[in-house]
Amino acid sequence: MTALCQTRLMAEIRVAQLSDTHFLEDGEEAEGGAAYDTDAAFEAVYDSMRDLEDDLDLVVVTGDVADHGRAGQYRKAAEAFNRFAVPVNACPGNHDFVTPFSAGIGRLGVSTSRVIEIGDWAFVFVDSSAGVMSPDSSGLTVDPPGETRLHNNGNLGAAEAAWVRQICESVTVPHVFIWLHHPPGPPLPLCYDEDYAAEWRAVVPDLPNLRGMAGGHTHVPDHYEFEGVPVFVAGSFKNSFSMEPQQWLPPAYRTYVFSDDGTVTSENHFAADNDELWPRRPFGRTLKSLFMGEINYDQLREIVAQRQAAD
Ligand SMILES: [Fe+2]
Repeated sequence: MTALCQTRLMAEIRVAQLSDTHFLEDGEEAEGGAAYDTDAAFEAVYDSMRDLEDDLDLVVVTGDVADHGRAGQYRKAAEAFNRFAVPVNACPGNHDFVTPFSAGIGRLGVSTSRVIEIGDWAFVFVDSSAGVMSPDSSGLTVDPPGETRLHNNGNLGAAEAAWVRQICESVTVPHVFIWLHHPPGPPLPLCYDEDYAAEWRAVVPDLPNLRGMAGGHTHVPDHYEFEGVPVFVAGSFKNSFSMEPQQWLPPAYRTYVFSDDGTVTSENHFAADNDELWPRRPFGRTLKSLFMGEINYDQLREIVAQRQAAD
């Protein structure tokens, strides 16, 4: 490492965040439909990141790595992430089941570490679905059967909350940044869970070294404040949306600059426009009603089926 590079590393850390990559194996159907080709999305994002990569210290992936949490999907994701020249670290989302995620992602350079210290910063990786986990007959903490994990909007749980407090108290660097799948209190009713927001409201004020948080889950690139802390949200490779104006967006990712004075800046980026794969088409009242929490997924599917029957 040159002296110039070392000086930059200590003063300024540069990270790219991918989220909600939702990898599928060849021929598999996406959960819920209405999905982009996530292999093509990865290629487009990877191309878009080529000019940035020389300046990056780390790539972070904030969950929903695989669409169905299957081993083959993690193999594919790991091979894709392994193409980055810098280390990649991932935490799980609600589409990720913990055992296949942990067993399937690890490669040299692709990890699932829970704390990574770089310069003056500690990056803490939280499982924001940890509250749905329960012990099996051996005492091992495992995912619950069925789709409980898949259909949650964030559930931190007492043990994960205690772990976050313990780690933030124990790190020896001045600044902490939390990476997780579910951003707390997102301004999108479909993805807002009051119990989950309350869990973080009880934790954040006790973390004086916390400088920010970043997640995904909503598939709507955004940033806002929660309990005085900046929260950044990355888009998705499966489908990304804008609420203002209401339209579909290309696959998206974010970049971050962490300074040694504790400030964080972040920018949203899109893969190149492609009118066949991800046109920026406006969406109508039904999808807006879903995002605004006026209808649920079952009602959306019913409306779509009625329309198709009428055509
Ligand atoms: Fe997702």
